[in-house]
Amino acid sequence: MSSVFLPIDGDSNLTKERFDASTHADRMTRLGSVVRESAVLAGIYLEGQGISVSPLDELSGLAEAAQVREVGRITQRRRKPEAATYIGSGKLEELKELVTAVDANLVIFDNDLAPSQTKNLEEHLNVKVIDRTELILDIFASRARTNEARLAVELAQLEYSLPRLKRMWTHLERQGVGGVGLRGPGEKQLEVDRRLAQKRILDLKSELDTIRQRRHREVAARKTSRTVSLVGYTNAGKSTLLNRLTNSDEYVKDQLFATLDTRTRRWHLPGWGQVLLSDTVGFIRDLPHHLIASFRATLEEANQADLLLHIADASSRDVEIQIDAAFRVLTDIGIREKDTFLVLNKIDVLEPNRLQTLLAKYPNAVPISAGKGLGIEGLTVAVSDILSKEFLELTIEIPVSDGRLMALLARDGEILSKRYGEETVLVHCRIPQHLVGRLRQEKEIRGL
Ligand code: GTP
Repeated sequence: MSSVFLPIDGDSNLTKERFDASTHADRMTRLGSVVRESAVLAGIYLEGQGISVSPLDELSGLAEAAQVREVGRITQRRRKPEAATYIGSGKLEELKELVTAVDANLVIFDNDLAPSQTKNLEEHLNVKVIDRTELILDIFASRARTNEARLAVELAQLEYSLPRLKRMWTHLERQGVGGVGLRGPGEKQLEVDRRLAQKRILDLKSELDTIRQRRHREVAARKTSRTVSLVGYTNAGKSTLLNRLTNSDEYVKDQLFATLDTRTRRWHLPGWGQVLLSDTVGFIRDLPHHLIASFRATLEEANQADLLLHIADASSRDVEIQIDAAFRVLTDIGIREKDTFLVLNKIDVLEPNRLQTLLAKYPNAVPISAGKGLGIEGLTVAVSDILSKEFLELTIEIPVSDGRLMALLARDGEILSKRYGEETVLVHCRIPQHLVGRLRQEKEIRGL
Protein backbone atom coordinates (compact mmCIF):
# COMPACT_ATOMS: atom_id res chain seq x y z
CA MET A 1 0.00 0.00 0.00
CA SER A 2 1.42 3.33 -0.84
CA SER A 3 1.21 6.29 1.40
CA VAL A 4 -2.42 7.33 1.56
CA PHE A 5 -3.54 10.76 2.43
CA LEU A 6 -7.10 10.01 3.27
CA PRO A 7 -9.60 12.82 3.31
CA ILE A 8 -10.20 13.95 6.83
CA ASP A 9 -13.82 14.08 7.83
CA GLY A 10 -14.54 17.48 6.47
CA ASP A 11 -13.09 20.55 8.06
CA SER A 12 -15.59 20.48 10.88
CA ASN A 13 -13.02 18.65 12.98
CA LEU A 14 -10.65 21.48 12.61
CA THR A 15 -12.95 24.25 13.54
CA LYS A 16 -14.61 22.76 16.57
CA GLU A 17 -12.95 24.03 19.69
CA ARG A 18 -12.92 20.78 21.61
CA PHE A 19 -9.91 18.78 20.59
CA ASP A 20 -10.70 15.26 19.53
CA ALA A 21 -7.54 13.33 20.28
CA SER A 22 -8.46 10.15 18.51
CA THR A 23 -9.37 11.94 15.31
CA HIS A 24 -6.26 14.03 15.49
CA ALA A 25 -3.95 11.11 16.27
CA ASP A 26 -5.62 9.11 13.53
CA ARG A 27 -5.11 11.90 11.04
CA MET A 28 -1.47 12.25 12.08
CA THR A 29 -0.97 8.54 11.67
CA ARG A 30 -2.64 8.47 8.29
CA LEU A 31 -0.59 11.40 7.16
CA GLY A 32 2.63 10.21 8.70
CA SER A 33 2.43 6.45 8.41
CA VAL A 34 5.05 4.84 6.23
CA VAL A 35 3.68 1.31 6.40
CA ARG A 36 4.57 -0.93 3.45
CA GLU A 37 6.12 1.71 1.26
CA SER A 38 9.18 1.38 -0.98
CA ALA A 39 11.96 3.60 0.19
CA VAL A 40 15.34 4.88 -0.85
CA LEU A 41 17.57 5.46 2.18
CA ALA A 42 19.72 8.57 2.12
CA GLY A 43 22.55 9.34 4.53
CA ILE A 44 24.45 12.59 4.59
CA TYR A 45 27.45 12.42 6.91
CA LEU A 46 29.26 15.49 7.99
CA GLU A 47 33.00 15.85 8.36
CA GLY A 48 34.19 14.72 11.73
CA GLN A 49 31.05 12.67 12.33
CA GLY A 50 32.01 9.12 13.34
CA ILE A 51 30.14 6.69 11.14
CA SER A 52 29.91 2.93 11.19
CA VAL A 53 31.27 0.52 8.60
CA SER A 54 27.96 0.40 6.85
CA PRO A 55 26.25 3.59 7.96
CA LEU A 56 22.78 2.95 6.56
CA ASP A 57 22.40 -0.50 8.12
CA GLU A 58 20.78 0.87 11.23
CA LEU A 59 18.32 2.99 9.26
CA SER A 60 17.60 -0.10 7.20
CA GLY A 61 16.77 -2.00 10.40
CA LEU A 62 14.48 0.83 11.45
CA ALA A 63 12.78 0.83 8.05
CA GLU A 64 12.24 -2.90 8.34
CA ALA A 65 10.78 -2.42 11.81
CA ALA A 66 8.32 0.05 10.23
CA GLN A 67 7.53 -2.50 7.49
CA VAL A 68 9.01 -0.33 4.76
CA ARG A 69 10.64 -2.06 1.80
CA GLU A 70 14.14 -0.77 1.09
CA VAL A 71 14.75 -0.37 -2.64
CA GLY A 72 17.92 1.75 -2.79
CA ARG A 73 20.60 3.62 -0.86
CA ILE A 74 22.57 6.76 -1.37
CA THR A 75 25.21 8.37 0.86
CA GLN A 76 27.27 11.54 0.78
CA ARG A 77 30.06 13.06 2.84
CA ARG A 78 29.76 16.82 3.22
CA ARG A 79 31.48 19.55 5.12
CA LYS A 80 28.17 21.06 6.19
CA PRO A 81 24.54 20.56 5.21
CA GLU A 82 23.05 22.51 2.31
CA ALA A 83 20.66 24.99 3.92
CA ALA A 84 17.71 24.43 1.59
CA THR A 85 17.87 20.71 0.96
CA TYR A 86 20.46 19.28 3.37
CA ILE A 87 21.91 17.25 0.49
CA GLY A 88 24.06 18.92 -2.23
CA SER A 89 22.48 19.77 -5.59
CA GLY A 90 24.45 17.22 -7.66
CA LYS A 91 23.62 14.44 -5.22
CA LEU A 92 20.00 15.54 -5.17
CA GLU A 93 19.79 14.95 -8.93
CA GLU A 94 21.38 11.54 -8.46
CA LEU A 95 18.81 10.79 -5.76
CA LYS A 96 15.97 11.84 -8.04
CA GLU A 97 17.20 9.51 -10.80
CA LEU A 98 17.49 6.66 -8.32
CA VAL A 99 13.98 7.26 -6.98
CA THR A 100 12.58 7.04 -10.51
CA ALA A 101 14.73 4.04 -11.50
CA VAL A 102 13.66 1.92 -8.52
CA ASP A 103 10.11 3.29 -8.46
CA ALA A 104 10.32 4.43 -4.85
CA ASN A 105 7.51 6.39 -3.24
CA LEU A 106 9.41 7.43 -0.16
CA VAL A 107 12.86 8.75 0.74
CA ILE A 108 14.07 8.32 4.31
CA PHE A 109 16.93 10.54 5.46
CA ASP A 110 19.29 9.30 8.15
CA ASN A 111 19.44 12.90 9.39
CA ASP A 112 17.23 15.36 11.18
CA LEU A 113 15.64 17.59 8.57
CA ALA A 114 14.19 21.02 9.17
CA PRO A 115 10.53 21.33 8.07
CA SER A 116 11.57 23.64 5.21
CA GLN A 117 14.20 21.16 3.99
CA THR A 118 11.63 18.37 3.94
CA LYS A 119 9.25 20.57 1.99
CA ASN A 120 11.91 21.55 -0.58
CA LEU A 121 13.04 17.96 -1.00
CA GLU A 122 9.49 16.75 -1.53
CA GLU A 123 8.87 19.42 -4.12
CA HIS A 124 11.99 18.44 -5.98
CA LEU A 125 11.73 14.67 -5.69
CA ASN A 126 7.97 14.46 -5.99
CA VAL A 127 7.73 11.71 -3.38
CA LYS A 128 7.20 11.78 0.33
CA VAL A 129 10.33 12.53 2.38
CA ILE A 130 10.72 11.72 6.05
CA ASP A 131 13.64 11.86 8.43
CA ARG A 132 14.97 9.47 11.00
CA THR A 133 12.96 10.97 13.84
CA GLU A 134 9.70 10.59 11.98
CA LEU A 135 10.52 6.98 11.22
CA ILE A 136 11.34 6.22 14.86
CA LEU A 137 8.15 7.94 15.99
CA ASP A 138 6.21 5.80 13.54
CA ILE A 139 7.75 2.63 15.00
CA PHE A 140 7.13 3.76 18.56
CA ALA A 141 3.52 4.54 17.68
CA SER A 142 2.98 1.06 16.35
CA ARG A 143 4.67 -0.59 19.37
CA ALA A 144 3.12 1.36 22.22
CA ARG A 145 0.92 -0.99 24.21
CA THR A 146 0.22 0.57 27.58
CA ASN A 147 -1.60 3.79 28.26
CA GLU A 148 1.61 5.45 29.45
CA ALA A 149 3.59 4.48 26.36
CA ARG A 150 0.74 5.64 24.11
CA LEU A 151 0.57 9.03 25.81
CA ALA A 152 4.36 9.42 25.62
CA VAL A 153 4.41 8.60 21.93
CA GLU A 154 1.46 10.83 21.14
CA LEU A 155 3.19 13.72 22.90
CA ALA A 156 6.42 13.15 20.99
CA GLN A 157 4.51 12.91 17.70
CA LEU A 158 2.58 16.09 18.35
CA GLU A 159 5.68 18.04 19.31
CA TYR A 160 7.40 16.83 16.20
CA SER A 161 4.40 17.58 14.00
CA LEU A 162 3.56 21.01 15.30
CA PRO A 163 6.13 22.94 13.20
CA ARG A 164 5.24 20.71 10.25
CA LEU A 165 1.47 21.12 10.16
CA LYS A 166 1.71 23.32 7.14
CA ARG A 167 3.50 20.60 5.23
CA MET A 168 0.75 18.13 6.06
CA TRP A 169 -1.81 20.48 4.66
CA THR A 170 0.30 20.85 1.55
CA HIS A 171 0.19 17.08 1.18
CA LEU A 172 -3.58 17.18 1.31
CA GLU A 173 -3.70 19.90 -1.29
CA ARG A 174 -1.36 18.08 -3.60
CA GLN A 175 -3.46 14.93 -3.36
CA GLY A 176 -6.48 16.95 -4.35
CA VAL A 177 -8.22 15.99 -1.16
CA GLY A 178 -11.13 17.80 0.30
CA GLY A 179 -12.66 20.06 -2.34
CA VAL A 180 -13.95 23.51 -1.66
CA GLY A 181 -13.45 23.66 2.09
CA LEU A 182 -9.94 22.31 1.86
CA ARG A 183 -8.64 23.83 -1.31
CA GLY A 184 -5.99 25.78 0.55
CA PRO A 185 -5.07 25.19 4.09
CA GLY A 186 -5.84 28.74 4.94
CA GLU A 187 -4.11 30.44 7.78
CA LYS A 188 -7.24 30.23 9.88
CA GLN A 189 -7.48 26.45 9.71
CA LEU A 190 -3.80 26.09 10.34
CA GLU A 191 -4.09 28.36 13.33
CA VAL A 192 -6.99 26.36 14.75
CA ASP A 193 -5.09 23.16 14.17
CA ARG A 194 -2.03 24.54 15.89
CA ARG A 195 -4.02 25.78 18.83
CA LEU A 196 -5.73 22.42 19.28
CA ALA A 197 -2.43 20.60 19.04
CA GLN A 198 -0.88 22.92 21.62
CA LYS A 199 -3.80 22.36 23.95
CA ARG A 200 -3.49 18.60 23.58
CA ILE A 201 0.28 18.84 24.22
CA LEU A 202 -0.43 20.61 27.51
CA ASP A 203 -3.02 17.99 28.49
CA LEU A 204 -0.66 15.15 27.63
CA LYS A 205 2.19 16.72 29.57
CA SER A 206 0.00 17.11 32.60
CA GLU A 207 -1.24 13.50 32.35
CA LEU A 208 2.31 12.22 31.97
CA ASP A 209 3.42 14.35 34.86
CA THR A 210 0.82 12.75 37.10
CA ILE A 211 1.99 9.32 35.98
CA ARG A 212 5.61 10.34 36.60
CA GLN A 213 4.89 11.52 40.13
CA ARG A 214 2.96 8.34 40.87
CA ARG A 215 5.79 6.26 39.40
CA HIS A 216 8.31 8.19 41.46
CA ARG A 217 6.39 7.40 44.65
CA GLU A 218 5.91 3.76 43.68
CA VAL A 219 9.58 3.24 42.89
CA ALA A 220 10.64 5.09 46.05
CA ALA A 221 8.28 2.96 48.12
CA ARG A 222 10.02 -0.14 46.85
CA LYS A 223 13.37 1.15 48.07
CA THR A 224 13.50 -1.51 50.74
CA SER A 225 14.91 -3.75 48.02
CA ARG A 226 18.00 -3.00 46.02
CA THR A 227 17.15 -2.26 42.42
CA VAL A 228 19.05 -3.02 39.26
CA SER A 229 18.04 -1.67 35.85
CA LEU A 230 18.92 -3.08 32.47
CA VAL A 231 19.70 -0.36 29.97
CA GLY A 232 21.27 -0.42 26.53
CA TYR A 233 20.89 -0.24 22.83
CA THR A 234 17.75 -1.64 21.27
CA ASN A 235 17.95 -5.35 20.44
CA ALA A 236 21.00 -5.88 22.68
CA GLY A 237 19.26 -8.65 24.62
CA LYS A 238 17.88 -6.88 27.72
CA SER A 239 14.56 -8.74 27.76
CA THR A 240 16.32 -12.04 27.16
CA LEU A 241 18.58 -11.38 30.15
CA LEU A 242 15.64 -10.33 32.32
CA ASN A 243 13.95 -13.61 31.48
CA ARG A 244 17.12 -15.61 32.03
CA LEU A 245 17.77 -14.09 35.46
CA THR A 246 14.19 -14.13 36.72
CA ASN A 247 12.97 -17.27 34.97
CA SER A 248 10.11 -15.36 33.47
CA ASP A 249 8.83 -15.62 29.97
CA GLU A 250 8.64 -12.08 28.75
CA TYR A 251 8.25 -10.86 25.22
CA VAL A 252 11.47 -11.25 23.26
CA LYS A 253 11.51 -10.43 19.60
CA ASP A 254 14.31 -9.88 17.14
CA GLN A 255 13.16 -6.42 16.26
CA LEU A 256 14.06 -2.93 17.28
CA PHE A 257 12.18 -1.43 20.20
CA ALA A 258 10.26 -4.57 21.12
CA THR A 259 10.14 -3.14 24.66
CA LEU A 260 8.54 0.22 25.25
CA ASP A 261 7.54 -0.15 28.86
CA THR A 262 9.50 -0.86 31.96
CA ARG A 263 8.96 -4.22 33.50
CA THR A 264 10.15 -5.09 36.95
CA ARG A 265 10.74 -8.59 38.27
CA ARG A 266 12.12 -10.10 41.44
CA TRP A 267 15.57 -11.53 40.99
CA HIS A 268 16.95 -13.91 43.55
CA LEU A 269 20.63 -13.06 43.48
CA PRO A 270 22.55 -16.07 44.83
CA GLY A 271 24.58 -15.19 47.92
CA TRP A 272 22.79 -11.88 48.27
CA GLY A 273 19.04 -12.24 48.40
CA GLN A 274 16.29 -10.57 46.51
CA VAL A 275 16.75 -7.57 44.27
CA LEU A 276 14.37 -5.95 41.84
CA LEU A 277 15.41 -6.10 38.23
CA SER A 278 13.83 -3.88 35.60
CA ASP A 279 13.99 -3.74 31.83
CA THR A 280 13.78 -0.39 30.03
CA VAL A 281 13.09 0.98 26.57
CA GLY A 282 15.92 0.31 24.12
CA PHE A 283 18.21 3.23 23.29
CA ILE A 284 19.36 4.27 19.88
CA ARG A 285 21.88 6.65 18.36
CA ASP A 286 20.46 10.19 18.31
CA LEU A 287 17.25 9.09 19.95
CA PRO A 288 14.84 11.94 19.19
CA HIS A 289 14.90 14.26 22.17
CA HIS A 290 11.11 14.54 22.16
CA LEU A 291 11.05 10.83 22.79
CA ILE A 292 13.57 10.90 25.61
CA ALA A 293 11.58 13.63 27.31
CA SER A 294 8.32 11.74 26.85
CA PHE A 295 9.74 8.50 28.15
CA ARG A 296 11.16 9.95 31.33
CA ALA A 297 8.48 8.28 33.43
CA THR A 298 9.35 4.93 31.92
CA LEU A 299 12.99 5.57 32.70
CA GLU A 300 12.21 6.41 36.33
CA GLU A 301 13.16 2.86 37.28
CA ALA A 302 16.62 3.39 35.81
CA ASN A 303 16.78 6.79 37.45
CA GLN A 304 16.26 5.40 40.92
CA ALA A 305 18.18 2.15 40.44
CA ASP A 306 21.14 1.33 42.66
CA LEU A 307 22.97 -0.16 39.74
CA LEU A 308 22.66 -0.07 35.97
CA LEU A 309 23.63 -3.00 33.82
CA HIS A 310 24.49 -1.66 30.41
CA ILE A 311 23.82 -4.49 27.95
CA ALA A 312 25.58 -4.34 24.60
CA ASP A 313 25.29 -6.65 21.61
CA ALA A 314 28.94 -7.71 21.22
CA SER A 315 28.10 -9.48 17.98
CA SER A 316 27.15 -6.23 16.26
CA ARG A 317 29.78 -4.71 14.00
CA ASP A 318 28.79 -1.36 15.50
CA VAL A 319 28.96 -2.37 19.13
CA GLU A 320 31.38 0.42 20.06
CA ILE A 321 29.18 3.08 18.46
CA GLN A 322 26.16 1.58 20.21
CA ILE A 323 27.91 1.61 23.59
CA ASP A 324 28.80 5.29 23.11
CA ALA A 325 25.26 6.09 22.00
CA ALA A 326 23.76 4.40 25.06
CA PHE A 327 26.13 6.32 27.34
CA ARG A 328 25.05 9.53 25.64
CA VAL A 329 21.38 8.76 26.30
CA LEU A 330 22.22 8.05 29.95
CA THR A 331 23.90 11.44 30.10
CA ASP A 332 20.90 13.08 28.43
CA ILE A 333 18.50 11.67 30.98
CA GLY A 334 20.89 12.66 33.75
CA ILE A 335 21.80 9.26 35.15
CA ARG A 336 25.29 8.79 33.78
CA GLU A 337 26.86 9.10 37.21
CA LYS A 338 25.22 5.99 38.56
CA ASP A 339 27.12 2.80 39.25
CA THR A 340 27.09 1.15 35.86
CA PHE A 341 28.84 -1.76 34.38
CA LEU A 342 29.01 -3.04 30.92
CA VAL A 343 27.78 -6.47 29.93
CA LEU A 344 28.89 -7.81 26.56
CA ASN A 345 26.08 -10.07 25.38
CA LYS A 346 25.77 -12.62 22.55
CA ILE A 347 29.29 -14.02 22.99
CA ASP A 348 27.95 -17.33 21.70
CA VAL A 349 28.12 -15.96 18.16
CA LEU A 350 31.43 -14.15 18.56
CA GLU A 351 34.86 -15.00 17.22
CA PRO A 352 37.23 -15.51 20.21
CA ASN A 353 39.57 -12.85 18.77
CA ARG A 354 36.78 -10.33 18.65
CA LEU A 355 35.93 -10.93 22.31
CA GLN A 356 39.60 -10.41 23.24
CA THR A 357 39.66 -7.12 21.33
CA LEU A 358 36.51 -5.90 23.05
CA LEU A 359 37.73 -6.95 26.49
CA ALA A 360 41.01 -5.10 25.86
CA LYS A 361 38.97 -1.99 25.18
CA TYR A 362 36.43 -2.55 27.99
CA PRO A 363 38.46 -4.42 30.63
CA ASN A 364 35.73 -4.28 33.29
CA ALA A 365 33.00 -5.64 31.03
CA VAL A 366 31.34 -8.94 31.84
CA PRO A 367 30.97 -11.26 28.83
CA ILE A 368 27.77 -13.33 28.72
CA SER A 369 25.28 -14.96 26.47
CA ALA A 370 21.80 -14.32 27.83
CA GLY A 371 20.36 -16.54 25.12
CA LYS A 372 22.60 -19.55 25.83
CA GLY A 373 23.05 -18.92 29.56
CA LEU A 374 26.83 -18.42 29.40
CA GLY A 375 28.70 -16.29 31.94
CA ILE A 376 25.60 -15.76 34.11
CA GLU A 377 27.41 -16.81 37.28
CA GLY A 378 30.19 -14.27 36.67
CA LEU A 379 27.51 -11.64 36.19
CA THR A 380 25.70 -12.45 39.44
CA VAL A 381 28.99 -12.37 41.38
CA ALA A 382 29.87 -8.99 39.86
CA VAL A 383 26.43 -7.57 40.73
CA SER A 384 26.61 -8.95 44.30
CA ASP A 385 30.04 -7.40 44.75
CA ILE A 386 28.89 -3.99 43.66
CA LEU A 387 25.71 -4.08 45.73
CA SER A 388 27.68 -5.21 48.78
CA LYS A 389 30.03 -2.28 48.44
CA GLU A 390 28.05 0.12 50.56
CA PHE A 391 26.63 -2.54 52.84
CA LEU A 392 28.04 -3.91 56.06
CA GLU A 393 27.38 -7.33 57.45
CA LEU A 394 27.24 -7.38 61.25
CA THR A 395 25.64 -8.86 64.33
CA ILE A 396 23.93 -6.56 66.77
CA GLU A 397 22.06 -7.04 70.00
CA ILE A 398 18.79 -5.21 70.42
CA PRO A 399 16.02 -5.33 73.02
CA VAL A 400 13.36 -7.91 72.19
CA SER A 401 10.74 -5.25 72.85
CA ASP A 402 12.09 -2.91 70.13
CA GLY A 403 9.82 -3.83 67.24
CA ARG A 404 10.44 -0.46 65.60
CA LEU A 405 14.15 -1.09 65.26
CA MET A 406 13.62 -4.61 63.97
CA ALA A 407 11.24 -3.24 61.36
CA LEU A 408 13.80 -0.62 60.34
CA LEU A 409 16.49 -3.28 59.87
CA ALA A 410 14.17 -5.39 57.79
CA ARG A 411 13.07 -2.44 55.71
CA ASP A 412 16.40 -0.86 54.89
CA GLY A 413 18.65 -3.87 55.19
CA GLU A 414 18.43 -7.61 55.17
CA ILE A 415 18.06 -9.76 58.28
CA LEU A 416 20.11 -12.91 57.81
CA SER A 417 19.34 -14.60 61.15
CA LYS A 418 18.00 -13.92 64.68
CA ARG A 419 18.87 -15.56 67.99
CA TYR A 420 16.57 -14.77 70.88
CA GLY A 421 17.76 -14.43 74.45
CA GLU A 422 15.58 -13.49 77.44
CA GLU A 423 15.60 -9.77 76.97
CA THR A 424 17.59 -9.21 73.83
CA VAL A 425 17.88 -10.65 70.39
CA LEU A 426 21.10 -11.12 68.41
CA VAL A 427 20.45 -10.03 64.86
CA HIS A 428 22.84 -10.99 62.10
CA CYS A 429 22.13 -8.54 59.30
CA ARG A 430 23.39 -6.68 56.28
CA ILE A 431 22.65 -2.97 56.43
CA PRO A 432 23.54 0.14 54.42
CA GLN A 433 26.48 2.05 55.85
CA HIS A 434 24.47 5.21 56.30
CA LEU A 435 22.21 3.37 58.74
CA VAL A 436 25.11 2.42 60.99
CA GLY A 437 25.64 5.97 62.23
CA ARG A 438 21.95 6.28 63.02
CA LEU A 439 21.88 2.99 64.90
CA ARG A 440 24.93 3.98 66.94
CA GLN A 441 22.84 6.69 68.51
CA GLU A 442 20.41 4.09 69.80
CA LYS A 443 22.00 3.56 73.18
CA GLU A 444 20.68 0.10 73.91
CA ILE A 445 22.27 -1.47 70.87
CA ARG A 446 25.42 -3.45 71.38
CA GLY A 447 27.76 -4.72 68.71
CA LEU A 448 28.23 -1.54 66.73
P1 GTP B 1 14.51 -3.88 22.77
O1 GTP B 1 13.22 -4.30 23.40
O2 GTP B 1 14.40 -3.51 21.36
O3 GTP B 1 15.25 -2.86 23.56
O4 GTP B 1 15.45 -5.23 22.70
P2 GTP B 1 16.17 -6.01 23.87
O5 GTP B 1 17.46 -5.38 24.23
O6 GTP B 1 15.21 -6.30 25.00
O7 GTP B 1 16.56 -7.38 23.12
P3 GTP B 1 15.83 -8.81 23.16
O8 GTP B 1 16.04 -9.49 24.49
O9 GTP B 1 14.44 -8.62 22.68
O10 GTP B 1 16.72 -9.61 22.11
C1 GTP B 1 16.90 -9.20 20.79
C2 GTP B 1 17.31 -10.37 19.93
O11 GTP B 1 18.60 -10.85 20.33
C3 GTP B 1 16.37 -11.58 20.08
O12 GTP B 1 16.23 -12.19 18.81
C4 GTP B 1 17.12 -12.51 21.01
O13 GTP B 1 16.77 -13.87 20.80
C5 GTP B 1 18.56 -12.24 20.60
N1 GTP B 1 19.51 -12.56 21.68
C6 GTP B 1 19.45 -12.16 22.95
N2 GTP B 1 20.48 -12.67 23.67
C7 GTP B 1 21.22 -13.40 22.81
C8 GTP B 1 22.43 -14.18 22.93
O14 GTP B 1 23.03 -14.31 24.00
N3 GTP B 1 22.90 -14.75 21.80
C9 GTP B 1 22.28 -14.62 20.59
N4 GTP B 1 22.84 -15.24 19.55
N5 GTP B 1 21.13 -13.93 20.44
C10 GTP B 1 20.61 -13.33 21.53
